[in-house]
Amino acid sequence: MPDGQLIHVLVVAPREPVSEWLISTLHAEAGVVMVGVAPTLERALPLIGQRKIDILLLDGGVPDAQQLDRLQAIAALPLAPAVVLMVSAGDMPFVQQALFAGARGFLLKPYTQEQLMTSLRQTFDMQNQQRQALVTTQVAAPAFEETAQVCVLFSPKGGIGRTSLATSLAIALHQESDQPVTLVDGDLQFGDVDIALNIMARKSIADLLPYVNELERHIIDSALIKHTSGVQVLLAPPQFDPAVTVDESRLAHIIKSVAATRSGYVIVDAPAGLSESTLSLLDVAQRVLLVTTVSVASLRATKRFLELAAKLDYPRDKLVMVLSGYRKDDIPLEQIERHLSWPIGAVIPNDPTAIALALNQGQPIVARDRNHAISKAIFKLARQLSGGPTGGTPQPTPPAPAPAPGQRPAASRLMQLRPGRADS
Ligand SMILES: Nc1ncnc2c1ncn2[C@@H]1O[C@H](COP(=O)(O)OP(=O)(O)OP(=O)(O)O)[C@@H](O)[C@H]1O
Ligand SMILES: [Mg+2]
Repeated sequence: MPDGQLIHVLVVAPREPVSEWLISTLHAEAGVVMVGVAPTLERALPLIGQRKIDILLLDGGVPDAQQLDRLQAIAALPLAPAVVLMVSAGDMPFVQQALFAGARGFLLKPYTQEQLMTSLRQTFDMQNQQRQALVTTQVAAPAFEETAQVCVLFSPKGGIGRTSLATSLAIALHQESDQPVTLVDGDLQFGDVDIALNIMARKSIADLLPYVNELERHIIDSALIKHTSGVQVLLAPPQFDPAVTVDESRLAHIIKSVAATRSGYVIVDAPAGLSESTLSLLDVAQRVLLVTTVSVASLRATKRFLELAAKLDYPRDKLVMVLSGYRKDDIPLEQIERHLSWPIGAVIPNDPTAIALALNQGQPIVARDRNHAISKAIFKLARQLSGGPTGGTPQPTPPAPAPAPGQRPAASRLMQLRPGRADS
């Protein structure tokens, strides 16, 4: 059965023989995927959003089943599962209230296997129709002829200014180009774009992971947060989640889907260091901002990365080197360019105090003070990227195809890039 027709069910029921029968019946149904079993709604809530769940089967006998605010909270979630109650005849007053709180239907106990499956199938079909209607409404909105350009901020070493730059650049690019800009926190484990933009939200990229094979525009939109600057933001998961780490391989696919469903620019704050997952991100990008500082360690790591990049066959204009935190009395820029055999595309001046204030107060420097030297450099970079007056940067080349979700990039690309290979 195609994945889109499988019904993903979460059961919330007390431990008792009727529940055991229900669970084993659902396990045996070919068209059903049992996502899990929770003893209370409270325990079920964290699962919603982490996993794809079409239907939540709620037994009226669980201790918190009658807390209507919990049902309302579920109904308000993006891509909320349809709640179907399993109740006794005496529960009818509660059923009425629960339907007002967002539940979709109910099964009267005792019910047969056939009644159970008919109810699940009908609810699932109705939910699909509603989602489809949502898509159709949104398709009626202007169709995008172009997909957004993906620009990934990457550095081999961490702690050198990627997040400060990514957040400010997204705002500057939105203002300079007058185009939509979507900022993605690609650091799934330790991302801090939310702090840098002073956003408090539960929505994140984790909401998209269960839908990675069907990332339509409305699904992606439901996970985005609109920042006061007008930039749309896709945050990293709010908590460290080992399951999300496993899904890192899907990040490039998600970014590609984000870009395919909107125009303008997608800015990705990538994690530091090179992994298979980051390499896939770089493949998807039309532009890679290679962020470095003048420290010996950072320059050496950048040089090593550039040597690897030569083997990736990226067009030369894809990699734009950005020197972060540069002081006037640092090594001359020409000397750095000679050492790295790569031109410096942008220089972000040094001001640790201003950057620390911006990061800690959650207000990117371009929004705090657009006349600050760092802001001016970032606006200039934004104009370069959008082909504005200080431009001169050639139009980006199309990205390489991203790996399909879950697929490892072609035979471990990092292994192929190892120094000393015969073909290197
Ligand atoms: N233009 C700058 N001038 C001086 N210091 C800077 C500048 N940009 C960044 N820094 C320093 O780098 C620190 C880290 O900045 P930021 O969080 O933006 O870097 P990052 O590369 O995203 O870090 P991580 O690898 O932890 O994600 C800042 O707290 C600041 O001390
Ligand atoms: Mg960062």
